[in-house]
Amino acid sequence: MMKSMHEKYINDALSIERKEISSIPKIVGWESPVNIALIKYWGKKEGQIPLNPSLSMTLSHAHTRTIIHYRRAAAKNGTIHFKFNAQSDHPFSKHVNTYLEKIKTYLPFLNDLDLYIESINNFPHSAGIASSASGMSALALSVVSIEQKLRETDLSDEIFFQKASYMARLGSGSASRSLYGGYVVWGDEDKGSADYAYPLPGKIHESFIHMHNSIFIVDSSSKVVSSSKGHERMQDHPYKEARIQQANKNFRSIKEALEDGNFERFAEITEEEAMSLHGLMLSSKKGYMLLNDTTLAIINKIREYRKKEKQPVTFTLDAGPNVHILYPSSAKGYVRQFIDKELIPLSPGSQIIHDFTGKGPVKLH
Ligand code: PMV
Repeated sequence: MMKSMHEKYINDALSIERKEISSIPKIVGWESPVNIALIKYWGKKEGQIPLNPSLSMTLSHAHTRTIIHYRRAAAKNGTIHFKFNAQSDHPFSKHVNTYLEKIKTYLPFLNDLDLYIESINNFPHSAGIASSASGMSALALSVVSIEQKLRETDLSDEIFFQKASYMARLGSGSASRSLYGGYVVWGDEDKGSADYAYPLPGKIHESFIHMHNSIFIVDSSSKVVSSSKGHERMQDHPYKEARIQQANKNFRSIKEALEDGNFERFAEITEEEAMSLHGLMLSSKKGYMLLNDTTLAIINKIREYRKKEKQPVTFTLDAGPNVHILYPSSAKGYVRQFIDKELIPLSPGSQIIHDFTGKGPVKLH
């Protein structure tokens, strides 16, 4: 399967010639959202293929906007000019250059272009929310849009997003899931290709369609160990096989919970996944810890509150100490009060970003 997608995209690339590229500047642009994994991608195989299937929820507010002005390269080789939040020497530039170099295998016309890329996040850079998923997906969508404009025939929406997801994956695995709204799957090799993500097929119970995610920013400093290093440490992890089994089981169960509207089951799985992710970090060779006292205090309070008040509220964690508090619309009033009265005093002055399930990327140009 993987080989055929790879070959198909290489063949696609051959159909575009340099003479078709105009020297008059053109523009493409996309807004792409952040997603939060409920079933975590942790550890990968050759070619940025995950060890296990993951399932995420796409957010509505938190996003990256990327705009590219492009034209036929003035010199023999194309140039890349990148600005992030209006800053031209941002550390993210290096990552973007390496990424564009990597995808030139599939999109060789990039060699013949001068690219002026501008990216902006609408969430504070210091918020500690991983921006690689929204950033890489907005960039992938924009370069696949350039390709679309250079082709004679348009790709269907389905094929366009599949290709953008494939390209986004090569930048950051989790970015492959930001291409779609609602709940998104990546890496279910039994049912489809792990080369790209796709919207979770089947029915979603109405109680899960509009889910809230209030992100409690416990600490906004950057991670002591990056996600790429974390993925690497899964290679020789003593619990590697057990983790693959656990993730597959949780993946099957959460789909049932989402379909049946079973919040209790949903909460059990999301919490198990969040704690397992951090447990794997703790128990890897050269183990490390990204959680802190406040994270644990918030988690304990959420669990106590759920037990005592019988309100549907749970949490998940990304690769960091911030807590993603999850609850359906029906519980919004109670949970917001609980956050204000009981959680904020645990870390006064902390930022909270209130978000919810989103519809996916938006085309800007
Ligand atoms: O996409 P990466 O390489 O940044 O890895 C993301 C890993 C987690 O955020 C911890 C889990 C996930 O599935 O998003």
